[in-house]
Amino acid sequence: MPARTITERVQWVGAVDWNRRLFDDLVPLPEGTSYNAYLVRGSEQTALIDTVDPALQHNLLEALESLPRLDYLVCQHVEQDHSGTIPQVLARFPEATLLCSTKARPMVEEHLHVEPSRIRTVADGETVSLGDRTLQFIYAPWVHWPETMLTLLPEERILFTCDFLGSHFATSRLLAGNDPAVINAAARYYAEIMMPFAPAIRTTSRSSTGSSLTSSPPATGRSMTSPP
Ligand SMILES: [Fe+2]
Repeated sequence: MPARTITERVQWVGAVDWNRRLFDDLVPLPEGTSYNAYLVRGSEQTALIDTVDPALQHNLLEALESLPRLDYLVCQHVEQDHSGTIPQVLARFPEATLLCSTKARPMVEEHLHVEPSRIRTVADGETVSLGDRTLQFIYAPWVHWPETMLTLLPEERILFTCDFLGSHFATSRLLAGNDPAVINAAARYYAEIMMPFAPAIRTTSRSSTGSSLTSSPPATGRSMTSPP
């Protein structure tokens, strides 16, 4: 699927996996799934938030084909469906720096074999300027892995929520609205994957979602108007 516009400065450049029926050899995917990556263009620099499962890496690389330069690649979560194409994106853009949490760093070095010189760790609350747009990183430990972080784009009031508010659902639409099928998929996702981490999720919800956000795009599934 080609890149899709969310705002003038934010594009979805992920992949929709219509045919996948099992996740982690455990979780059934009756409605497929999707891998969401987001391109954020500031006046001076450009960042990509997450990648896609390596099985669909060609979708992401094609969407980025005409991009002349990438300054930052943000790894919010090291699980393969989001991080699996990091090596290919770093190879395609040798000038790019990988931004990740302190806990993610040894994971991307060990599992994705990213050169230490390509990695810059960011602290909880740290900001990185893209010129007239800013990325602010919010640590979200155990939502649902220890290294997870969310990314706030304050000028657009967008919070990239990683697996928090995710759902396994394949659709060509960019937004789910109040579609009951997506809301049911999100409720199932929470029950199957997130529920054991409910205390950490409550903490993250209180600290990250209280402000007036316009959008909270997840790393899988679609943004909902009224998440369950
Ligand atoms: Fe995950």
